[in-house]
Amino acid sequence: MLRGKNIILGVTGSIAAYKAACLVRAFVKKGAKVQVVMTPAGKEFITPLTLATLSSNPVISEFFSNRDGTWNSHVDLGLWADVMLIAPASASTVGKMANGIADNMLVTTYLSCKAPVFVAPAMDLDMYAHPSTQQNLNKLRSYGNHIIEPETGFLASGLEGKGRMSEPDDIVKVLENFFSSRKELQKKKILITAGPTYEKIDPVRFIGNYSSGKMGFALAEACAGRGAEVTLVSGPVSLKTTHPSIERVDVESAEEMYHAAVRIFPSCDVAVLCAAVADYRPERQAPEKIKRERSEAMSVSLVRNKDIAATLGKDKRTNQTLVGFALETKNELTNAKEKLQRKNFDVIVLNSLSDEGAGFGYDTNKVTLIDKYGRETALPLQSKTEVAEKIIDYLVDACPQMQPVEVT
Ligand code: PMT
Repeated sequence: MLRGKNIILGVTGSIAAYKAACLVRAFVKKGAKVQVVMTPAGKEFITPLTLATLSSNPVISEFFSNRDGTWNSHVDLGLWADVMLIAPASASTVGKMANGIADNMLVTTYLSCKAPVFVAPAMDLDMYAHPSTQQNLNKLRSYGNHIIEPETGFLASGLEGKGRMSEPDDIVKVLENFFSSRKELQKKKILITAGPTYEKIDPVRFIGNYSSGKMGFALAEACAGRGAEVTLVSGPVSLKTTHPSIERVDVESAEEMYHAAVRIFPSCDVAVLCAAVADYRPERQAPEKIKRERSEAMSVSLVRNKDIAATLGKDKRTNQTLVGFALETKNELTNAKEKLQRKNFDVIVLNSLSDEGAGFGYDTNKVTLIDKYGRETALPLQSKTEVAEKIIDYLVDACPQMQPVEVT
């Protein structure tokens, strides 16, 4: 899967830099071309000579050579790459990448790179847990970068905790999966809804919810990664898509999402409705900003929004699959099963706010899949990316419309 791929390996100042040698060797063995780019601190931890020898390519770390003035173009490098991997990524480099601080060759190359970017953080547990590091990683995620979570274990400081760079074999697997030829969804058209909806009260206020869009976007990337043509109808979120096979339709309100979904669904094989759609909207939108009145209380009269899922469930043809989500806070299984029937879903994905790390906003989720025969499949807490892959695995096994078609 990595044969013929052009890989930029960014190496930064972390003790885990010694593992970069194993990464280069594994990539070269698998037939990839590797260009190592190091930060000045990275060179303190492993010599460029080692990485240049293993990659059969001079290591780049400066904008130009002091010896002969050769200019290293970060733009050309960014365009050459099929993928950029930064492993190990120190807290400092993560911070610079997140904030566009282009003061070395590695970060300028990252900013010029058009290819997907994978980041494998490596640092001490407290640095990793620090809110500023977490915020920077979230920023990188929201820009469409893939974060390869560090492991929990023994750290160079002698402490134990989360911060160890993922093992080279696992990182190689992540890239192999990304370029996987498992294209079982080729020729499938999939509609995914994601994010919240905003229901306007007046020009400056709305009724909304906490959905970040992460779960729906992870599903869109997972389906596109397996060859599907995806239309992602998204409410207002700050995420971006990376896969070229995702067509994005941005909407704001439930009404707009309804019209987009109803228009797109007839040409699709499968729809996965992950959006947290507002059930009600203000009966009237004030044309001007509502002013503070003398009275203590005010009320907004609400009317019911159209149920997108129920409409698609009613219109569904026998050769289409409809997958819904249920976000519950109590009587989870009973409520989810009732929604599955009422909306004519083939499968419903239940997540509960009573599970730590599940539901809105988190990078993780814990879901139970329930099919129309009432069969339940519970998955453990894992990243939303992993949850998305598991949901797709399940649907490919369980739903006729997800079965691979012959591609000639
Ligand atoms: O976006 P994240 O921060 O990653 O969070 C993910 C999530 C929690 C939003 C997601 O995992 C999830 O559970 N989405 C569905 C949330 C929800 O609105 O559930 P519900 O039980 O209210 O709705 C049931 C189903 O009907 C859902 O498939 C929903 O998309 C659909 N629906 C609801 C109302 C409506 N008017 N139209 C709909 O299509």
